[in-house]
Formats: sequence, C-alpha cells, structure tokens
Amino acid sequence: MPGLLLGDVFPNFEADTTIGRIKFHDFLGSSWGVLFSHPKDFTPVCTTELACAAKLSDEFKKRGVKMIALSIDSVEDHHNWSKDVMAVSSSTAKTLPFPIIADHNRALSIELGMLDPDERDSDGLPLTARCVFVIGPDKKMKLSILYPATTGRNFDELLRAIDSLQLTAQKKVATPVDWKLGDKVMVIPSLSDAEAAALFPNGVTTKEVPSGKNYLRYTQP
Ligand code: BEZ
Repeated sequence: MPGLLLGDVFPNFEADTTIGRIKFHDFLGSSWGVLFSHPKDFTPVCTTELACAAKLSDEFKKRGVKMIALSIDSVEDHHNWSKDVMAVSSSTAKTLPFPIIADHNRALSIELGMLDPDERDSDGLPLTARCVFVIGPDKKMKLSILYPATTGRNFDELLRAIDSLQLTAQKKVATPVDWKLGDKVMVIPSLSDAEAAALFPNGVTTKEVPSGKNYLRYTQP
C-alpha cells in the first residue's frame, strides 16, 4: 500500500525536470498542485493522456492549479517525447505547458508508492502506475487516484474533482454524484439544521425519505 494518506504533508522532494531541478514545495509556491505519473515515455496511452492534459492546461491554470507530470525516463527523453505529444494534442500551445519529472532511477516512484507490479519494462523492472495526487496550498494531499498502466485517466473528471475540492475547502458542503460547478450541493451531516439555516442564505431544501431522517439536505452555494 502506498504510504501517503489524505491529509499528509506531501514530500518536499527534489527532482530533475524539463524545467531544471526543482524542490517540490518551492515549485508549488502558494498554488494548488496536481502531480500525475506515467509508466513510460513514447507509449500510446501516456501520449494521449499528456496531449489531453496539455489541451486542458488553461482550465487547471484558471483554478490556480500547477501541473507536473512524472515518467521514469530521462529529461532528454521527456523533451523529445513532448514534441510528439504536442504534435498530436489539440492544444494551441507550442510547447508542453507543464514540466515532466525525470525519475529514471525510480526513487520517487518508490517513495510515493507508484509502481505497478503487473507492468514491466524490457529489463523486467516495474513501470509506474497512473497516479494522480492533488495537493492543496497547505501542501497537504487532498486527493489520490491510482490506475494501472493499462487504463488511461479522464482529465475532465480530475477538473470536476478539483472544483469539488476547492469548493468544499471553503464551505461546509459536500458534492453529490456527478456534481458539476453551479449545481446544488449537500449540507454536510455534522451541521445541525439551525447551523445550516444560518450558514446558507440561499436556503436549504430537504428531500423526504422513508426513514424520516432529514439527511438529504441541498443548498445552492
Ligand atoms: C501506454 O501508455 O500505452 C502503456 C504503458 C505501459 C503499459 C501499457 C500501456
């Protein structure tokens, strides 16, 4: 099991990247951050993912989220691979709009619990899984996703989840299934009806259920 849990301070690792050597917390500054890992450069699924991430980079920027990718190859490979990625991306940017970490000795992939034991390179060494870590401005981990190398991620879902993380960091609400920005949200169970009425000037509506318990409380944030 990966050692990092929600709420843990994300490691302030040092790494070589396509924008030079970084210390992760300095790279993040006071922004939110998203780190997403890839099994290997010049592989098909990873290329579609990076191309999509490049296309959506303005959406991450709008939300104040700094993006950084990781793959277990060298900086030189990353630079060459980025050209392929941008050739197939519908991004309007000329170059990949975020850096890629070079984890050629897998040190960071091991530290962050990112290796996929079922996918190996030609030397039999495990490749990185498709991890996503969202880090808050307090440097604590707010979300983690772990997909195997053979399943590509959905970056629109990641943006949707970030919208929820950013909203619920500010307000005592939770977002229901398939929620999108602008939809109604749920009042969190720990708030009493009186507290909810005071906190949500747009009002709270409660859906009746057979149990008679008033826990399905909606509000417009
Ligand atoms: C890919 O990115 O296409 C890939 C990488 C490693 C294993 C399987 C697929």
